[in-house]
Amino acid sequence: MKGLYSKNMSVDSNKTFYLETFGCQMNVHDSEKVIGTLVHEGYRQVETVEQADLILYNTCSIRDKAEQKVFHRLADYKKLLAQGKKFGVLGCVAQQEGEKIFERAPHVSLVCGSASYRKLPEMLFELEKNWAAVPNRAEESQVPSSEFTHSGNTRNPRLATQSLVRITGLDDRETDECFETEFTARTNPHRGYITIIEGCDKFCAYCVVPFTRGKERSRTSESVLAEARQMADLGYTEIQLLGQNVNSYKDPAGKPGGGFSRKRTFAELLAAVGEVPGIRRVRFTTSHPRDFGRDIIEAIDAVPTLCDHVHLPVQSGSDRVLNAMQRLYTREQYMERIAWMKAAKREISITSDVIVGFPGETEEDFAETLSLLDEVGYDSVFTFKYSPRPNTPSLALEDAIPDEEKARRLEVLMARQREIQIARYKKYIGIISEVMVEGRNESRAQWIGRTSQNKTLNFTAPEPSAPKVGSYVPVRATASFPNSLVGEMVV
Ligand code: 5AD
Ligand code: SF4
Repeated sequence: MKGLYSKNMSVDSNKTFYLETFGCQMNVHDSEKVIGTLVHEGYRQVETVEQADLILYNTCSIRDKAEQKVFHRLADYKKLLAQGKKFGVLGCVAQQEGEKIFERAPHVSLVCGSASYRKLPEMLFELEKNWAAVPNRAEESQVPSSEFTHSGNTRNPRLATQSLVRITGLDDRETDECFETEFTARTNPHRGYITIIEGCDKFCAYCVVPFTRGKERSRTSESVLAEARQMADLGYTEIQLLGQNVNSYKDPAGKPGGGFSRKRTFAELLAAVGEVPGIRRVRFTTSHPRDFGRDIIEAIDAVPTLCDHVHLPVQSGSDRVLNAMQRLYTREQYMERIAWMKAAKREISITSDVIVGFPGETEEDFAETLSLLDEVGYDSVFTFKYSPRPNTPSLALEDAIPDEEKARRLEVLMARQREIQIARYKKYIGIISEVMVEGRNESRAQWIGRTSQNKTLNFTAPEPSAPKVGSYVPVRATASFPNSLVGEMVV
């Protein structure tokens, strides 16, 4: 693991933790920061729940299914409480359910939303203080639990005498803080994430994110660039800029701590990261069509390290549904952005997210989504059945489309998209693309590669010129599948 660790890191600590992550790339990257923080606090990461003193779940609540997973996990391992293990719930379910988690899973000791991760060291301190006060951890589960909560940074003197401590970090939407840490435990030594903006102010009718991740707050572009340079110095060559809506990035230059005066737009920041010496690929996700400016395409045209791939979630092809979803754009405006991309110097691969079965979606609305797929020609689409979520505006709408009908629309959509991809991927046969080597699939005797367009291109290479993982090599595609290409390295 190559990370930005400090010297304080303790490797032979006897405090151990297990962390499982659910959900999106933001969660994956948050976990890298949480792991870095825990290691800096003297914890050692272990691979199994059984080996761990502290069991953490970084959770996702974007759809109901994702949310249920964590409660199943907690139920599965409840028995381990008798061995003195502690359980913590982090992330979106933590923020959304808050202290209700203690009722549903009384063996949980720590509930912490993403806006409070910067307080983790303090929360761990409280947890440990209580831990140490329990003479025999194995007896702990037999002591009746005391229902009290320790919130944020007000230390409760009763903590040390309580057996089942309950610590919450549930900063609300109004926090201005980003989770900036120098202790990020990146697991991939070649490509890594950098968060540029946290939270979301869009309030799409179906979406729980503005409630679980709080309001939009951007990091200074200088701080992002410093992290990019540090990563390049450590040998990283690919950077992915992250945010729920990277296009609404607003450089808070001039803020106390910002320490400089030049503000950069998102497109300028993207270009500046692409120009960091040593960086060969820059990606960004996720974009919102409303805030997606033409300057982003101009930056992709001007800076060759910016990857020729844009993920631009459309959600629906029907203006009526887009309006009900409060997406703040029309189909025509969306297609205007697609036209910018299609006019770019390099062919830009376009991918999207689509929700089927939003309340009130008619057969005609759905047909418009299908026609939009044809019109755009996506290289990949993530498809979802609408799932009503707590706090969201669309919760007030009747979720009247039966699950079987949502499932049917999903299948039709996926089948149509599959046909589109079969045709699109075929066009790459015979074409040479540069791939980053991501690994080796021994069973298939193939190397795993990824193109700048974010397509998987698995390939063979003659033994003497076997490529190194993390290197960039030219590969000629020789066959195509709906989701990937196969080829041979050009030597
Ligand atoms: N139901 C179904 N899909 C959803 N998404 C977000 N919220 C919901 C919901 N309530 C999808 C959107 C978003 C992606 C990350 O998840 O398509 O772009
Ligand atoms: Fe959710 Fe909409 Fe914000 Fe994306 S832009 S995180 S879908 S509210």
